[in-house]
Amino acid sequence: MLIAMRNFILLLLVLTRSSFASTVKEPLPFLWGVGNAAFQVEGSPQDSDWYRFTHKAGAIKDGTNADVATDFWNRYEEDFKLAREMGANTFRISIAWERIQPAADRWDMAALAKYERILTKMQSYGLLPVVTLQHFVLPGWLADRGGLLAKNFPEIYTQYAMTVMNRLSAAPASVKLWMTFNEPEILVFCGYFWSCWPPKVYLEPVKAVNASANIARAHLMTVTQLRRAAKSKRNLSNVQISVAKHWTPVQPKTNKDGDVKAAQFYDDMFNRQFMDAFLYGKIRFLMPGKDASVTQTIALPDQRPGMDFISINYYQRSIVSKLPVYPHYMSVTGPGTKNDLGWEMYPTGLYTLLKDVARYKLPIMISENGVADKTDQYRPDFLKAHLNALIKAKNEGVPVVGYLHWSLTDNFEWAEGLSPRFGLVEMDYKTLERKPRPSYYMYRDLIKHYSGTMRGLPWGFR
Ligand code: FCB
Repeated sequence: MLIAMRNFILLLLVLTRSSFASTVKEPLPFLWGVGNAAFQVEGSPQDSDWYRFTHKAGAIKDGTNADVATDFWNRYEEDFKLAREMGANTFRISIAWERIQPAADRWDMAALAKYERILTKMQSYGLLPVVTLQHFVLPGWLADRGGLLAKNFPEIYTQYAMTVMNRLSAAPASVKLWMTFNEPEILVFCGYFWSCWPPKVYLEPVKAVNASANIARAHLMTVTQLRRAAKSKRNLSNVQISVAKHWTPVQPKTNKDGDVKAAQFYDDMFNRQFMDAFLYGKIRFLMPGKDASVTQTIALPDQRPGMDFISINYYQRSIVSKLPVYPHYMSVTGPGTKNDLGWEMYPTGLYTLLKDVARYKLPIMISENGVADKTDQYRPDFLKAHLNALIKAKNEGVPVVGYLHWSLTDNFEWAEGLSPRFGLVEMDYKTLERKPRPSYYMYRDLIKHYSGTMRGLPWGFR
């Protein structure tokens, strides 16, 4: 009788514990980290839209390319060591789609295995991986089919994303924090409106809204498949998914009605319509111009938001005014001190946007924030001031769960080339030697200082 009672109590304990474990998420610590993206650091590139672009005469401002970059593909362990020694506990990388799927009908399992090794090594340094599935670059064969506007783009993307997540969410890589896309709005605006990046289309708002809608459909389809698969596949059951959203706090240039309206329009177009699509399946993309709108509602499984957490990349605010000619608005950087790329450094913007983004009632990770500053004259203060802004918002109840500085090392800055220096660690591109800048030590001290007091929040995975 006693034994039966004991067994019954044990069984009850096991049952309550396991149901407890499946409903309550353990807090992760506050995430202190750095981020990079495949094309910007890896080197050894495969055929992609960006590989082709970087080899076009005159396309890259300083005439460099990303063929070697920081050689992260081979030297990743050096960077993990540097990050760990700085006290980071998180490292964001991205997967080069063109390596995994070098042709429409070819999957390179060796490339997937290499990422598995990279991610496993990362964790041996005590770094939690955050992985972006698409950071601006598309495989060459997909670019040939129309890129973001390709027929069946959402299906093609979802197949790729599920292939990668299935493998890399399982042991030994065990990645749980994923981002489907990086800065979809920048990708679309640069590709189809301002013609700064491939496919270099100028002022075509209809294409831009269609590309935006295709990205949203791809994200929502991936999330739907992931959540379905998670019901039976253990490796996927704890996955948390997001989109790294570039967010700019918008201010009208003057209080005049025209400027105020232009600023509202810009804020909606750049910030909010993307959030509505990714979170609620409400596709409502609108840009200036005739027929430049797409509306569609996509139902999400279990009525959960389409992102488990929000990730924000923050660099600067936008001052917007009305233009008498198309596209009827103009956006410029703020009046304060500028970095090497002419972007204003404006830490208050981080506080403002966190208070604003808190409205979505989800954990918020700052997935990028950094400064182009070759001589490191601004970066130490930049870091301090931005962290102060973040902590102020956190202390006022905004659920900030992490800060990932862009970037650990200097890297290839897209159409600008290798010249802009975003690294806490300086790259000598001739020798590939990494030399920590004073701001590296500053970040180390700040992490140490804050780690004692900054609590994690109840989010994340078991
Ligand atoms: C962001 C990009 C990132 C890097 C920084 C400086 O917009 O996501 O890849 O280029 O800007």
